[in-house]
Amino acid sequence: MTTPPLLEVQGLDVGFTTPDGRPLDAVRDVSFTLRRGETLAVVGESGSGKSTTALALLRMLPGTGRITGGSVLLDGEDLATATEDRLREVRGARIGMIFQDPMTALNPVLSIGRHLDEVLRA
Ligand SMILES: Nc1ncnc2c1ncn2[C@@H]1O[C@H](COP(=O)(O)OP(=O)(O)O)[C@@H](O)[C@H]1O
Ligand SMILES: [Mg+2]
Repeated sequence: MTTPPLLEVQGLDVGFTTPDGRPLDAVRDVSFTLRRGETLAVVGESGSGKSTTALALLRMLPGTGRITGGSVLLDGEDLATATEDRLREVRGARIGMIFQDPMTALNPVLSIGRHLDEVLRA
């Protein structure tokens, strides 16, 4: 038995619903494999679906966003179909995200201590 890749995304589709109720395909058929110790950079023009792909891996899509197809295998476990309880265990412990815009990641008017305190309270 070979160990599965750390992260294997297969045929990932992500969709939103427009305000008038129509389906919008934001990400179509994205596949990639990441093994332990590897780094992967995803490059593309604005609006091509980089952030949506990353958010979909953790099932943290905004608004009407949802995974409409494919799988997200973390160590062989499909996060695309995992329960919310299981996702809560995995997020932060096994897979995390550092957001691009530091102004939204850390509030500049709060101390680091306040930030940490906020997380514990939440
Ligand atoms: N909150 C949202 N509501 C509806 N559609 C969205 C939302 N976020 C992203 N999209 C759709 O997903 C596409 C990809 O966006 P995004 O992942 O932010 O691109 P990138 O990060 O590559 O600039 C957008 O063009 C848009 O159609
Ligand atoms: Mg982006």
